[in-house]
Amino acid sequence: MEEKKDKKLRSADWFSPEDPKSAFIHRSWMRNQGLPTDYFEGRPVIGICNTWSELTPCNAHLRDFAEFVKKGVLEAGGVPYEFPVTSCGEILMRPTAMLFRNLASMDTEESIRANPLDGIVLLTGCDKTTPSTVMGACSVDLPTIVVPGGPMLNGKYKGERIGSGTFVWQLKDKIKNEGFTPEDQIEAEICSARSAGHCMTMGTASTMACMVESLGLTLPGAAAIPAVDSRKKVMAQLSGRRIVEMVKEDLKISKILTKEAFENSIKVNAAVGGSTNFIIHLLAIAGRVGVKLNLKEFDTLGSKIPLLVNLMPSGSYLMEDFFDAGGLPVVINEMKEHLHHNVITVNGKSLVDNNDGAECYNDEVIATLEKPFMEEAGIAVLYGNLCENGAVIKPSAATPELMTHKGKAVVFETIEEFLQTVDDPDLEIDENSVMVLKGVGPVGYPGMAEVGNMDLPEKLLKKGIKDIVRISDGRMSGTAFGTVVLHVSPESSVGGVLALVKSGDTIILDVPNRKLHLDVDETELKKRKAEWVPPKPPVDRGYTSLYTRTVQQSHLGADLDFLVGKSSSKVTRDAH
Ligand code: FES
Ligand code: MG
Repeated sequence: MEEKKDKKLRSADWFSPEDPKSAFIHRSWMRNQGLPTDYFEGRPVIGICNTWSELTPCNAHLRDFAEFVKKGVLEAGGVPYEFPVTSCGEILMRPTAMLFRNLASMDTEESIRANPLDGIVLLTGCDKTTPSTVMGACSVDLPTIVVPGGPMLNGKYKGERIGSGTFVWQLKDKIKNEGFTPEDQIEAEICSARSAGHCMTMGTASTMACMVESLGLTLPGAAAIPAVDSRKKVMAQLSGRRIVEMVKEDLKISKILTKEAFENSIKVNAAVGGSTNFIIHLLAIAGRVGVKLNLKEFDTLGSKIPLLVNLMPSGSYLMEDFFDAGGLPVVINEMKEHLHHNVITVNGKSLVDNNDGAECYNDEVIATLEKPFMEEAGIAVLYGNLCENGAVIKPSAATPELMTHKGKAVVFETIEEFLQTVDDPDLEIDENSVMVLKGVGPVGYPGMAEVGNMDLPEKLLKKGIKDIVRISDGRMSGTAFGTVVLHVSPESSVGGVLALVKSGDTIILDVPNRKLHLDVDETELKKRKAEWVPPKPPVDRGYTSLYTRTVQQSHLGADLDFLVGKSSSKVTRDAH
């Protein structure tokens, strides 16, 4: 790409202003870090936005990575400054990391805009750390490149692959039916997290890494490289070199994130069997960058795409196997007939050109379009009186026989009620029932927790039942599986029809026809609605209060309404 020579760098406003006082202030204090004078003489200033945190184990190695990015930035003539932002760790944060995605995005946006930065490198890993930082970067719109932190090495337990997350959802069954002891559990815990990195299933973190690669926000091949592989460090260094060039070319994130780039990403996500969380995060990113994208498009564009990647939870392998088989470039190359060619990525070339001819080294892990692992694997979007604005299901993780089903609802009004009663031997439930959970949407939980894949009742597990239909306004972990209808919108806590379901009502699920129907007549529903009392918000101050008052429903991406859009990278007033 052509260099735009005359454009004044943003950072010059701080480091070479006309006013000597202003220059003194901005340069003098920075010099206490031991910086030579030429650092302030017009070299592109690159912010390395780091989601490192020891409370986010999936990102705990990113301090190291930042050093490799810095090397690359310096080699290309730029000046790197690493800074921390809120790190949303999936594992420890309560009530759910998702509550804080938007907060972290605000932190990222304001930290970038307020500082003398010309280009941005985002160091991400765990589920929410990728969308939160990308959302923030979009609202500023500077040249931006993502370095995904990489998955952990394959888990291996007693000679078998053990997938992070996916194994957790099998644990209850193993303890109840397979004699799994507490000692076995500790051994399995160690085996499933044997190196630095994020979940190595095709859970949300790997899905997000594939998302940024397919959107064109990473250098080719970045997503699948394991966190501890030396090639990941090389990727970090090359990304550091490249961002300096991107600043010279003025290759802003909005030039990469076109409507076509989003459409490509939806198709690639279907082919890799990506997480349902992809939907919410991609919608939120589109909202920030000003691209019109709606929930239905995930179905119209993605649902006919076959599954090409055999990774847990939809399949049997893990990210290290995916990397060894050639990684995402193989999938993109295989999909090229389905993809837009007129998109540009961070390296200035198109997504298809970047990956043209990528060779597959293991066809048990990455299939061809001709012989896919499953036909029509993408996310299905359902509509009906139970979900006027939509609900989603991931067919590749569901039981085919349950995709059309009629059954009686067993309702849990809250997650606490579910936890207290699910294993009660007197609970009236069988394999034809439909479990319904309320109060777990964006406003209700708050933060739309990953509790939609409710554990099955003990008495069904004992009978050998592995799956029944489950419906909620929540999300599920990208590592989970089952015939689980998620993201029901509008959610129950704002008075969606889901709030009106009673145990014993008939529910009809018809995925082939994209229908979810509560078989209760209009008059009865009106009566129930008139009697409905909205739940009291669990917290009424601070960020949580701001969140519940302003969060949008899941079919719009669950962003805060006032954060949608961007405010540009314009330099604001001086502080001094
Ligand atoms: Fe962080 Fe899965 S918990 S990636
Ligand atoms: Mg998760």
